[in-house]
Amino acid sequence: LNARKPFISGNWKLNPQTKEEALTLGNEIAAAITEDSPDVDVALFVPYVFIESTMGVVGDKLSVGAEGVCPELKGAYTGAISTSMLKSIGVQWALAGHSERRVIYGETDDYINAQCRKLIEQGMSVMLCIGESLTEFEQDLAASVCAVQLKKGLKGISAEEMSRVAIAYEPVWAIGTGRVATPEIAQKVHAQCRAILAEMYDAETADNVRILYGGSVTPESVDELMSQPDIDGALVGGASLDSAKFGRIINFK
Ligand code: G3P
Repeated sequence: LNARKPFISGNWKLNPQTKEEALTLGNEIAAAITEDSPDVDVALFVPYVFIESTMGVVGDKLSVGAEGVCPELKGAYTGAISTSMLKSIGVQWALAGHSERRVIYGETDDYINAQCRKLIEQGMSVMLCIGESLTEFEQDLAASVCAVQLKKGLKGISAEEMSRVAIAYEPVWAIGTGRVATPEIAQKVHAQCRAILAEMYDAETADNVRILYGGSVTPESVDELMSQPDIDGALVGGASLDSAKFGRIINFK
């Protein structure tokens, strides 16, 4: 059995509308992590404006990360947030490659790769999200789409640096749809992703990378997903906005 530590994370997206809402949620989620919880890493990816205050309420129980970064460090990039700004307030983790960024904002594999490299260069960690669309899934292209996204997204990142990378496999057809991938489908793609990583790096590196599943994860589906050998965690959207549900996901069985 491998020694990968489970990693449960939440992605709040554009949902908490007020600081109060964010702090209440952060507080309740932190309280769900107790001595009886599994030995698990927990992270919340939250809107920039709430990062610092959320950090204040969760303490060292979990990490608070950014939902994205600008790959540039400084200059004329109106509206952008750099890795160095985030680092200066103690942020360790950020997402890159989420399908909403790819689809709605047109972020390309090259741009995503620049984000990943900048985070790694700054000594930070990145959760690279990958996943196929419904059409691609129906054409049995999940593995090949993930292979391309992994190869392009991780270009220039060394085997050693992979200790600061986590992968989130989020089939687009499962995001926010209530249609969770079956544990068998998710396991199959996770194993294929690990094989691709072994090809890109080596077996040991691939064996150490945590691959999380994302897409309509709920308290009802988490246990079976987490029991799959290549599923090391979950990246949760909707259910991370409900502390009872997310608390149950953190305390998976
Ligand atoms: O990043 C998490 C995500 O896209 C999944 O969202 O709402 O299907 O859990 P949801």
